[in-house]
Amino acid sequence: MQEPNKALTAVWAFITLLPLPALLAHAYPSLVGVAFLLQAAFFFGSGYLLSGALGYGSAFVGVLAIAAAQLGLRFAALGSFGLWWATIALDLSAALGGALLWRWRVRHYGADFHFDLIAPWYERFIHPQDPTPLLEDLRLTPKDKVLDVGGGTGRVAQFLTSARQVVVADISVAMLRMAHKKDGVQAVASRSEELPFPEATFERVVMVDALHHVFEQRRTALEMWRVLASGGRLVIEEPDFTHPWVKVLAMWEKSMLMRSHFLTPEAIAAFFPPEARVEIVRRGWIGHIIVTKP
Ligand SMILES: C[S@@+](CC[C@H](N)C(=O)[O-])C[C@H]1O[C@@H](n2cnc3c(N)ncnc32)[C@H](O)[C@@H]1O
Repeated sequence: MQEPNKALTAVWAFITLLPLPALLAHAYPSLVGVAFLLQAAFFFGSGYLLSGALGYGSAFVGVLAIAAAQLGLRFAALGSFGLWWATIALDLSAALGGALLWRWRVRHYGADFHFDLIAPWYERFIHPQDPTPLLEDLRLTPKDKVLDVGGGTGRVAQFLTSARQVVVADISVAMLRMAHKKDGVQAVASRSEELPFPEATFERVVMVDALHHVFEQRRTALEMWRVLASGGRLVIEEPDFTHPWVKVLAMWEKSMLMRSHFLTPEAIAAFFPPEARVEIVRRGWIGHIIVTKP
């Protein structure tokens, strides 16, 4: 017998259980307050724990489920459940409240809880990519020490281990725990804005898909420049904000209350000092900003 798909089962259970408080409230009017409080608490929790993005998404699914259930019940002539519509506003506001609390926490404590939460599943959704273009731009040699800033689970760093030393620096300890399991990859907990290395430590520095997540982009770029050795190469891979799809992605992430902030490759290039030699390579919707230090 085939095992049921766990993810689908969870989605199914989620959608099925959502209208329950409203049903309960209908059957036992004295419990209406408790039922709706429970539901609001659920959405507040999902908004907070899932950092706004998925919290919002789950509220949206909830709204659809409630609306569909209400329509279904109306068709089944079970009467009008006017209160259910109120749950739509209640659930969305609760999810939004949770997400806003999460943002406040991020601002005050400086930790990015979101990646801590998704770390164990990260590479199931974001598969290791073909490293060829990055390796071409990086021109790695076996003598190099490489730093992967915002390197997360080591998804990219695992392809750089032909170098003398590969270090992943990331703010999320849970992501680093996954990186630490990869052969030849060292993990260091740090903010990209304050890298804990002396000047000119690394011959190669890379940052993939992370610059739009950091707190301060200019400071991050200058820190990567500081730790880059003379004659070294730094490659930043980012979605190219001049591409229409990336604009759509940015709007989506904003509406999901994510902290991401996308830039054009030219804006990223402008962070570096005048002596930096900067080249921009565009591959579809991805931009590579290649910086060399004289
Ligand atoms: C989308 S993931 C990319 C991870 C990895 N570079 C990859 O391509 O698989 C973004 C990473 O940036 C990290 N990050 C976000 N803000 C950071 C900061 N201020 N300092 C260091 N790492 C940060 C997150 O913890 C996360 O691991």
